[in-house]
Amino acid sequence: MVLGAGAAAEPIVFRHVLDNSPLEVKPRPNEVESEAVKSFKETGKNPYAGEEQALAEGKRLYQVNCQACHLPDGSGRIGSTLIAGTWKYERAATDVGMFEILYGGASGAMQSFARRGMTQDQMLKVIAYVRSLKKT
Ligand code: HEC
Repeated sequence: MVLGAGAAAEPIVFRHVLDNSPLEVKPRPNEVESEAVKSFKETGKNPYAGEEQALAEGKRLYQVNCQACHLPDGSGRIGSTLIAGTWKYERAATDVGMFEILYGGASGAMQSFARRGMTQDQMLKVIAYVRSLKKT
């Protein structure tokens, strides 16, 4: 609870994709919440969507962290497809939902990237990049 904030919008409540339990999204030690992350937590909108520089960084992060399982074009191998528009978890269609999956993990090989050391800002960049894969 934020006391006396007086802000217009309620912050987004993130939930774990497997059991819908509240997901506490907090910075790692030494992680400074970027403006993009702060804004995302209030609006649920990814400020990096379509941003050229963020997409370049997101691509690099995707190549290192995701493509072994989801393939370079996102069509999926060990991990499910990220480009077909059909989702195992419906919420993956939204940026908040995809963030929940990256932050909190899903099942099997899809482990929490927060625990693997990825910052929330990096997750937003990866998400922006994944969204860009669909539009070819
Ligand atoms: C070691 C393999 C592996 C890696 C690395 C991996 N994933 Fe996954 N991913 C999976 C598997 C397996 C699933 C299916 C999980 C399940 O069924 O609960 C999955 C599911 C997902 C989903 C949910 C898709 C849906 O249809 O609902 C998203 C989104 C996703 N991964 C994104 C990513 C991103 C982005 C990265 C890199 C930051 C990544 N994954 C890295 C294996 C992986």
